[in-house]
Amino acid sequence: MKFILSAILLFFACITYGQRADWKGSWITNTEDTTATKAPYFRKTFKLQKKVISATAYVVGVGYHIVYVNGKPVTDAVLEQAYTRYDKRLLYKVYDVTALLSKQNTITQSIAAELGNGWYNIQSHAVWGFQNAPWRKTPRLLLDLVIKYTDGSSETIATDDSWKCATGPSQFNCLYTGEIYDARQEVPGWNQPGFNDASWAHALKTSSPGGTLYEQVMPSIKVIRRIKPVSVKNLGNGRYLFDMGQNFAGVATLRVKGKAGTKVTMYYGEVVKDGELDMKHNTEHMRSMPGELRFQTDVYYLKGSGNETFTPRFVYHGFQYVQVETDNTLPLDIHSLEGLFYSTDFKEAGHFTSSDTMVNKLYAAARQSYRSNFLSIPTDCPQREKNGWTADAHVSTEVGLWNYKSAAGYRKWLDDVSDAQTADGAMPGIIPSNGWGYDIPGDEEHTFGPAWGSALSFVTWYMYLYHGDTALVQKHYPAIKKYTDVVAKEAEGYLFKYGLDDWMSLVQTPRTFTSTAYFYTDAVLTAKMARILGNKADEATYTKLADSIRAAFNRTFFDPATGHYKDSTMTALSAAVFHDLASPEVATTAVGQLVAKVQRSNYHADFGVMGTKYVLPVLSERGYGDVAFRMLTDTGYAGWGHWIAHGATTLFEDWPGELSHNHIFFGDYCAWFYKTLAGIRPDEEAPGFKHFFLQPVFAKGLNFVKADYESRYGVIKSEWRRNGGGVRFSFEVPVGTTATVRLPAGVLVSPKVKRVVIVGQALDEVVVGGGKYVFDLKI
Ligand code: BGC
Repeated sequence: MKFILSAILLFFACITYGQRADWKGSWITNTEDTTATKAPYFRKTFKLQKKVISATAYVVGVGYHIVYVNGKPVTDAVLEQAYTRYDKRLLYKVYDVTALLSKQNTITQSIAAELGNGWYNIQSHAVWGFQNAPWRKTPRLLLDLVIKYTDGSSETIATDDSWKCATGPSQFNCLYTGEIYDARQEVPGWNQPGFNDASWAHALKTSSPGGTLYEQVMPSIKVIRRIKPVSVKNLGNGRYLFDMGQNFAGVATLRVKGKAGTKVTMYYGEVVKDGELDMKHNTEHMRSMPGELRFQTDVYYLKGSGNETFTPRFVYHGFQYVQVETDNTLPLDIHSLEGLFYSTDFKEAGHFTSSDTMVNKLYAAARQSYRSNFLSIPTDCPQREKNGWTADAHVSTEVGLWNYKSAAGYRKWLDDVSDAQTADGAMPGIIPSNGWGYDIPGDEEHTFGPAWGSALSFVTWYMYLYHGDTALVQKHYPAIKKYTDVVAKEAEGYLFKYGLDDWMSLVQTPRTFTSTAYFYTDAVLTAKMARILGNKADEATYTKLADSIRAAFNRTFFDPATGHYKDSTMTALSAAVFHDLASPEVATTAVGQLVAKVQRSNYHADFGVMGTKYVLPVLSERGYGDVAFRMLTDTGYAGWGHWIAHGATTLFEDWPGELSHNHIFFGDYCAWFYKTLAGIRPDEEAPGFKHFFLQPVFAKGLNFVKADYESRYGVIKSEWRRNGGGVRFSFEVPVGTTATVRLPAGVLVSPKVKRVVIVGQALDEVVVGGGKYVFDLKI
């Protein structure tokens, strides 16, 4: 049985992670000098002798590539290809270019590519050290254009040193600092078949970046929305400030007309101070070299040929404002600039709306932050770092899974996570990592601990819960187990004593408390995954480990004399309950303390990133949904509502709003909207929504809530609306699934219900199969 399961899983793994074996091309570059800044062009012409049935381009072009066939781009995606640890894993793109080839044989045709640096050749310096990445080399290309003919034969046009190369208008590109483009140096027709490349050099055959080649299965980054400025202010002296009205990730397209050589500089940022763009809050980690662009800056030199359009190709920024400065006054207006919102092109999976404007704004802000922070990897922020911070990724995974069909993105990132694990099992705080970010115990700046390092177990677990992805559990289980073992080895008496604390909290909870809570959950998840895989021995080992951690945790932090935890921050109280570290009686006391604390603090969020995952669900799960709802929507400082009331369109990194204005890690309430207000909850015993729960919280202040979610089995819908004396609850259960509806005891007259008590609450339960339902509730 076990063998059959493994064989099936392996079969699916091969399908999901396609690997092409017969590459004909060689790696090519134009130079081996990593300090050379101009983006290279490559081209090759060819003639076809027979009738073509299909043409497919297999491309790996790192850092970024733009490929053209007969002068036309092969995709509308941007920043191709996905970021990986290039020396371990390379994702090749497959483009169907049949339609771009001329059907007329004997005609000369062309294939061409331009390469950007991306994360492969970071040229500007910053504290995370990507400028010293072990994989860093000049951009390079591997390409096979496979042409199949109607007579069954085929031909491959592959990269080699017969390709020609040169440089063009792109003078410099770096993800941190920006792009410099001199339109006077454009080479008209360079990617067209008829271009004369006699003066171009031959490409150099070069080494592979080292990674194993896999097909890129996850969606590419695309322009997901075009954003028009809401205002433009003329600041005088050829300087203009464009306000895009919302914060997002991407670039701006500039439309200008002027004299050749006019320099236009576009500064991107999130904050305006004294009427001008202020980037200071985002630049402290940069270590720019003299004469370099400062940060998030694109420069365009006009060619002077009438209407000109410039869109940076190899960078992206996080911004709401663009300050445009010219050295030769240009008459710019609101039509001169447009924003391009970049994100991984995930399709929508879920939607949520309600009768409350603040809730709807919060929902939109979380989605906007999420989209700004998934550009081929989940990131912390789109401006300052663009790093795959592990805690930021795992605390926002559920936001991603509810709202978007993002599973392929997480499968890919989990590969990155396992690539980052050292032979000893250690995990870095950012992934991909260039070596920076592994825990150095004793060095406070460099100890991230299990709250960050557990991303592999948490994200794998969510993928199991939401998508029933057992193959993924099978694939990553050995690494998950290894990580739990490392954490166990570093622990002292089952307590984990270092790691980042409740990041960005205004009130601190001891890190031994929060790190040990994560260590406990690592052991619990490892045991659960062992059970899923039928590994009884491991299940017993990790259950025992979890029990020992729980006992040590309660011995250390619980005071039997008072019946309370010694630490009574909102995070401590809710963490003990959320992670199931507290016994049922103690949990009830802790929740009581938490409610009192929230009320005493005037419903303010006295917690950080960790608390954001615990406080709302712990309150609503134990009958205090109204308290949670009020806390979430309160507009006083500190809290989410405060940001929104002050005009935020994305979530901030810190409550005062002094750091990044586009972080996703405070956004878990968006998953809570689906799970709690709409009440749709996955069931770990029947994952992937084969069976699920419908348990809405009818929070005071809300008149209606409406949500839908496209599960593997079909769309689940949940909607409730107050009507005169009661609530009408309408929902839809996909055929092939069942749902257990749980409602406050006594509110449902028919159908027949079963009374249950869950975490101290009396609920009425009814199990339904696929279909549409309307229940009238006496609330
Ligand atoms: C990032 C955070 C991250 C943290 C951890 C920050 O610079 O922006 O989101 O989790 O560092 O150290």
